[in-house]
Amino acid sequence: MAATHIFDAPPPGVAADWTMPQNWAAFTPAQHQTWRTLFDQQSAALDGYACADFLRGLDILRAVKPGVPDFAELNRHLKPATGWEIVAVPGWIPNQPFFEHLTNRRFPAANFLRPPEQVGYSEEPDMFHDIFGHVPMLANPAFSDFLVAYGQAGLRAEKLGAADYLGRLWLYTVEFGLVVEDGELRAFGGGLLSSYAETLRALTAPEPQRIWLDIERVMRTKYHFDAFQGVYFVVEGFEELLRATEQTDFASIYRRIGDEGALEPGDAFRGDHAYEGALQPVRPGPAFMSEDTPR
Ligand code: CO
Repeated sequence: MAATHIFDAPPPGVAADWTMPQNWAAFTPAQHQTWRTLFDQQSAALDGYACADFLRGLDILRAVKPGVPDFAELNRHLKPATGWEIVAVPGWIPNQPFFEHLTNRRFPAANFLRPPEQVGYSEEPDMFHDIFGHVPMLANPAFSDFLVAYGQAGLRAEKLGAADYLGRLWLYTVEFGLVVEDGELRAFGGGLLSSYAETLRALTAPEPQRIWLDIERVMRTKYHFDAFQGVYFVVEGFEELLRATEQTDFASIYRRIGDEGALEPGDAFRGDHAYEGALQPVRPGPAFMSEDTPR
C-alpha cells in the first residue's frame, strides 16, 4: 500500500491539533465529478445492505451542494443532530490528537480525494471514505455517544500502552460492524459501506465467521488490512454498543490479553456466540467494486 498521507508531525499549514483549513474552493471540477461518481454509485448499491440509520444519515450528505462536501456547510446540517462536526486533517493522524478530537465530538476527515483512476479502490482512507463511510452514523445519537466514549477510552489506553487492543474495537465496529435490524443482517461500519465488495461479502457469503459482539473477544482478535476480514461482529443495536463500551473495564481486558495472547481472525474462542440468523441475498451491484482500506 503506497500510503502517502501519513505524518509524524503536523506538516506546514496544519495546526498543532492536526486540523487544517479545508480550502474547499481549491477542489477542481474534476474532483467534484469524482465525488459525484463515487457518491451516486456507492449510495445506489446500499439499499437492503446498509442499516436504516446509515441510509437516513446519507440525507445529510444529500442536503449539501453536490460534489466534494464543503465541511462548513456540512457541519450546519450535522451539528444540530448530535453536536458533531467534521474537521479537515491532512490524512492519517496520531492516536492522541485523534482521540482528543473524538472526545470533543470532532470527526477528523482526510482533506484529499482519491484520483479518478482509484474510483473503485482507494489505496488509503481518503475524504470519500471518511465522509461517506462515517458521517451518516454520526447523526445517530447512541452511535455518536459511543464514539465519544471510544475517544475517552483511547486517551486512557494511550497511558496504558493498550491503544492497539482498543483499535481492534474501532476496526470491528466503526469500520466493519454489522447490526441486526428487524431480523435482517445489515452493515453499519464505514469500511464496509464505502466498499461494495466487502459489504457484499460480509452480508451474503457463508465463509466468514459472524459473532455477536463481545468486547473482550473483539479486543483479542487481530485483523487484516490487506484482505477481507475473516470475522465480523454483530450488534443488536447502538445502545448496546454504547452501554458495553461504558460498562466494561477495558484495563482488566488489556491485562488478560497481554497475559493470554491474541487470536487470529479465524480462531474460535471460549464462549463465542455465533450469529446464526439469515444472510442477505446477493443483489445486482454497481458497475464497479470499491474496496477501500479502513480508517
Ligand atoms: Co474509517
